[in-house]
Amino acid sequence: MSDPATPPGPAPLQKIDTSVPHSARIWNYWLGGKDNYPVDEEAGDAYTAVFPGIVTIARSSRAFLRRNITYLVAEAGIRQFLDIGTGLPTADNTHEVAQRIAPEARIVYVDNDPMVLAHARALLYSAPEGATAYVDADVRDPERVLEAAARTLDLDRPTALILSNILGHIPDYEQARSVVTRLMAALPSGSYLSVNDGSRGIDPVFEQAQDAYNASGAAPYILRTVEEITAYFDGLELVEPGVVPVPFWRPDPGSPAPQPIGEHGGLARKP
Ligand SMILES: C[S@@+](CC[C@H](N)C(=O)[O-])C[C@H]1O[C@@H](n2cnc3c(N)ncnc32)[C@H](O)[C@@H]1O
Repeated sequence: MSDPATPPGPAPLQKIDTSVPHSARIWNYWLGGKDNYPVDEEAGDAYTAVFPGIVTIARSSRAFLRRNITYLVAEAGIRQFLDIGTGLPTADNTHEVAQRIAPEARIVYVDNDPMVLAHARALLYSAPEGATAYVDADVRDPERVLEAAARTLDLDRPTALILSNILGHIPDYEQARSVVTRLMAALPSGSYLSVNDGSRGIDPVFEQAQDAYNASGAAPYILRTVEEITAYFDGLELVEPGVVPVPFWRPDPGSPAPQPIGEHGGLARKP
């Protein structure tokens, strides 16, 4: 059964700005999706002309997310997820990965892009034993996010907070840290934080492409140092192997040897 905190439906068309490239739609383009406009393809192609490795980063990041969710459900026993900065529906959305193992899993998705809202119905095909909901909200207002999430999740029970490629959208690092701290403070012991984000200090060509993108008029995405990404997990117990380039995080058995990329991620448990 689906349990929408915000009823999905067509977003008001005037709110979808097709004249400016949008993060969720460019990301969808790099992931091989179709939910994007010419302006997004142009921005995506301009980026890959400088740094083709962004496609590997986008796809490796989704694979990291899948392995994280699988670990959380199969090994840590987590049954509730709050996935903020969801993006457009793609292959292996959080609820699909979780409910494949535990159909009773409950998932709340949060994003503030009207295009994601317009496509949210695809995120709401929950297994009957569980529930999914979509909330149209801004991560910079954690209290509102938590209040809406509590309509679907029991926030007195361990919950995994998923922040996958969203924290770079908060340009002020201290604000990003404060958002993470306030969200995790509302969750009980035994909850988890999963973060992955573009990282600075690994590949100068990536940084050059990102600087050009940020100057293009699209909402900027700030790459962070590995130390800054690691500090999001302060006070939590990092699951092995800690904060690493995402292909190194518990790679699937038999997969090719991981290569370092400018995308770091980790998973940690609240003691
Ligand atoms: C790069 S996409 C990542 C999508 C997905 N989490 C993934 O990792 O594949 C970033 C997403 O964050 C959303 N986003 C950006 N700023 C946001 C904000 N302040 N509040 C909520 N969502 C936001 C965008 O709309 C977009 O869908």
